[in-house]
Parts: sequence; structure tokens; C-alpha cells
Amino acid sequence: MKTEHVVKDRYANAAKAPEAALCCPVDYDKKLLEAIPQEVIEKDYGCGDPSKYVREGETVLDLGSGTGKICFIASQVVGPAGRVIGVDMTDDMLEVARRNAPVVAENIGHANVEFRKGRIQDLALDLEVLDAELKKRPITDATSFLAADDLAEELRVTRPLVATDSVDVVVSNCVLNLVEPGAKPQLFREIFRVLKKGGRAVISDIVADEDVPDHLQRDPELWSGCISGALTEEGFLRAFADAGFYGIEVLTFDTQPWRTVEGIEFRSMTVQAFKGKQGPCFERNQAVIYRGPFKEVLDDDGHRMERGVRYAVCDKTFSLYKKTPYTAFFEFIDPLDGIPMESANPYDCARTTRRHPKETKGQDYRATAQTISPCCDGGSSC
Ligand SMILES: C[S@@+](CC[C@H](N)C(=O)[O-])C[C@H]1O[C@@H](n2cnc3c(N)ncnc32)[C@H](O)[C@@H]1O
Repeated sequence: MKTEHVVKDRYANAAKAPEAALCCPVDYDKKLLEAIPQEVIEKDYGCGDPSKYVREGETVLDLGSGTGKICFIASQVVGPAGRVIGVDMTDDMLEVARRNAPVVAENIGHANVEFRKGRIQDLALDLEVLDAELKKRPITDATSFLAADDLAEELRVTRPLVATDSVDVVVSNCVLNLVEPGAKPQLFREIFRVLKKGGRAVISDIVADEDVPDHLQRDPELWSGCISGALTEEGFLRAFADAGFYGIEVLTFDTQPWRTVEGIEFRSMTVQAFKGKQGPCFERNQAVIYRGPFKEVLDDDGHRMERGVRYAVCDKTFSLYKKTPYTAFFEFIDPLDGIPMESANPYDCARTTRRHPKETKGQDYRATAQTISPCCDGGSSC
């Protein structure tokens, strides 16, 4: 049986009655749970809490939203100015989430959550829209089968489930592992697509400390139980990098495994990754110094920098480093005479070169001055 059908069946049942084997203890903010009906809380199949990292006013997308708990928590954090979209492929999960949304809205005083049906590895295709269209033109033969394929392609463009560049933060709680191996690269590309430039993904999931052997991957119980579809710790981080993310960081890592199978430890990890390193590079004579504590660092664009050395960076890298998650690690040096963006020349970001201080100050700079006022009062010796 196809992995996806096994997963759908298991979660359809878990939407009807709580399944203890799927629950992993998570320390949610109790105050934020008060507004959420017990039915939703009981059918909690998460392994972390990515909602801790969303902010007021943001547009949040929750992948594999289940009965809606993370969406309902995020709804309170983003407030009335923000919005939350949950995506799930299982009708019974969507039914519970949609039925409870007005209850939560009533309790918190605003309604900003909606649930959409789709597969998280194909966030462009709205399965309910496709369903409605196929009722008008059912598949009866090979020709209508092929036409349905064309229709799906057209809907992805004309009526996408989640539009490109539309989301501030993509969250997910214990779902990515459930997607079949062949679709995982596309899943990460889809997360990247829907995020706005400067947006981020915060994903809690189960990871394995060793490669999961084939016989465990073929076990439907272990797969649908969020175990054997887990990527390794390293593979999980690499998947973000391969999709074009930068600033990838482990936010939480459970020291205790959730489960151990044949000596392989499966535990929860939360990872944050940013979209926005793509784009043209321009020379504006800016420099950065990596502050340490490591002897050197390597960023997701291949810049390798030694601690304490002044490096030339393009305007894009300079701006990226000034933001989370990099800013605390660097000193920033602007040129004495700034180069306006309109007259900046293209910069070759493929190389990392030192920036001589004369480049920032100007070749003719010969000043002798005391720019900082004396540190001691009373004209003493310092
Ligand atoms: C382990 S549960 C987690 C539910 C929820 N995030 C929570 O914290 O309780 C996995 C959920 O992801 C959904 N799911 C699994 N694979 C999916 C896919 N490929 N596309 C969309 N939803 C999926 C399931 O229907 C189920 O609701």
C-alpha cells in the first residue's frame, strides 16, 4: 500500500479517537491552551512547539495542521492583525479543526484561522477546488484522466492553495517525516516557494541519529507513527540548504529520544531556516568582522571568514548579516563615503576577500584626530 494512504488512514482514525502511541509530550504555553477545546488538545500529535517562534502580525502557514492546535495557539500570538492557514490532507482532521475554529475565535475575540485541504509537498494544488471541478467533468477514461492532469496543472497556477511569496513563517509539528522519500525534496522547495523573501521556516520534527534501514522504512506502522520516515539530523538540515535556505539553525534538540528502534534513536528537533539570500550582489565598499568565538565560519553562500579579519562583502550579504540570526556574530563597517545603490557596481560574491581599511576610509585618508572624548574626567594621564 502506498505510504500516503497508510498515513491518511491512520490520521483519519486518530481524528476520531485519540491515539496514545502518536503522542509525544510537549510543553505548550498553558495560558494559550485555555481558549482551545479539549477535543483538539486530546488529539495532539505534535513533537515540539514551533508556535513559540511566531510574532504578532505575521501570516503563518502550518503544514499538517491536524486538529488545529498549533494554528489556534499561533492565532493568539499573531493577534487580529495576523492570520493563520492550516493545511492538511486528511478530511477527518480538517473536520475537527474547522468545527472548532469558531469556538476558538469566540473565546479569543478574533477570527484569523482557516484550514485548507492539500498535500504539503504540493502546496499549489487545492484538493477541494480540484474535487469540485472533477465532479463537473469526472474521470471515465484515459482521455479524461489526462485532462484531469492538465486541469490540476492549470489550477496550481490560476487558483493556488498557497500563493508564492505569501507567508511570513511556515511552521510544522511532526509532519515532514510522514512525506514519502521521493517527495521530500519537493516538499522543502514548496516551503521555500510560499515564503516571502525574508520569511522563515520553523519546523519541529522527529529526526534519527542514524540512517533508517529499508526494512524499517517499509513498516507501515512505524512510518505512519512518525518514526521510520524521519530524516537524519544531518539530512534534515541539508534538505533546507538544498532548497535554498540560509541561516539554518537547531533551536531545540531533545536529549532524550522519543523512541529507540533497533538501536536507532528518534528524537524531536526544531529547526529554523530563512529565505532571502538569492539576488544580485553589489559593491558598496562595506566590510564585516566575524567576532568569534570560533576560529572561522562558513556561511550558506560559501563565504569563509576567520575571526577578527576584515572581509569585503556585497551589499546583500552586509544586509543579511545585520539581521537575525547573524547580527550578534559580526561587526559592521560602512565606508566613510557611502556608494549610493544607483551607482554601485556588480560584485563577485563567489570569492571571499579581505577589505583593507583604506578601501573603507578612502586611499587619501590621512586624518590625525581624537574622535572619542577622553574616558577619564579631570585631565588625568589616560
Ligand atoms: C503527526 S500528525 C501532526 C498533527 C499536528 N501538527 C499536531 O501537532 O497535532 C500529522 C498530520 O499531518 C497530516 N499529513 C501527513 N502527511 C501529509 C501530507 N503529505 N500532506 C498534508 N497533510 C499531511 C496528517 O493528516 C495529520 O493530520
